[in-house]
Amino acid sequence: MTILDKSFEPFIFESDIKNRIHALAEIINSQYEDKNPLFIAILNGSFIFAADLFREISIPCQISFIKTASYLNTHSTGTVRELLGIDENLEGRSVIIIEDIVDTGNTLNHIMQTLRDKNPATVEIVTLLFKREALKHPIFPKFAGFEIPNKFVVGYGLDYNGHGRNLKDIYQLKNAQS
Ligand code: IMP
Repeated sequence: MTILDKSFEPFIFESDIKNRIHALAEIINSQYEDKNPLFIAILNGSFIFAADLFREISIPCQISFIKTASYLNTHSTGTVRELLGIDENLEGRSVIIIEDIVDTGNTLNHIMQTLRDKNPATVEIVTLLFKREALKHPIFPKFAGFEIPNKFVVGYGLDYNGHGRNLKDIYQLKNAQS
C-alpha cells in the first residue's frame, strides 16, 4: 500500500486492535471503579483510539481533549506546540491521558508537566502503541496496547503527513525507508 511517496505493509489488524482495546478497558474499569476518572485524549492522532476505548469504559467517567503537534514527515521535531489547552479543574482528579503512540515521549513529557501543575490526584497514561526503543524521556505508560519496534506506522488515527488516519488496520513503513 502506498501513501504519498512511501510504501507500507500490514502490521496490526483491526480485529487484534479491537480485542486489545477491550482487554485494556476491562483493566481500567476494575482499577478506576469509584474514581470517576477524567480521560484526556491527545488530538489529533488518538481520536479513533479514544472513541473506541471510551465506549468500552463502563464506570462513571468524563473525557476532554488537548491538541498538540510535534511531527513533520516521519520524524519528531522535538518541539511540542500546545494548540488547544485544558479548561477543566484537575484538582484531586484521577487523570488518564489517552495517546495513540508513545515514541520519543517528548509530547507526553511536556503534557505531564503541564497537567501536574494543576494538582490532580494521579496522572497515568493509556497508549495504544509504545515504541520503547525510541523513548528519550522517563515516560512509562501504565496501560499499553502493543509494544512495537522503532519503525514509522500509519492507520487507525495515525497519519503520514495528514494521510492514512482512516485506515482500519495499522501499517508499518516498508524496509529501509525512514
Ligand atoms: P513523541 O512526542 O515523539 O512521543 O511523539 C508523539 C506523537 O507523534 C504521537 O502522538 C503521534 O501523533 C506522532 N507519532 C509518533 N510516532 C509515530 C508514527 O510511527 N506514526 C505516526 N505518528 C507518530
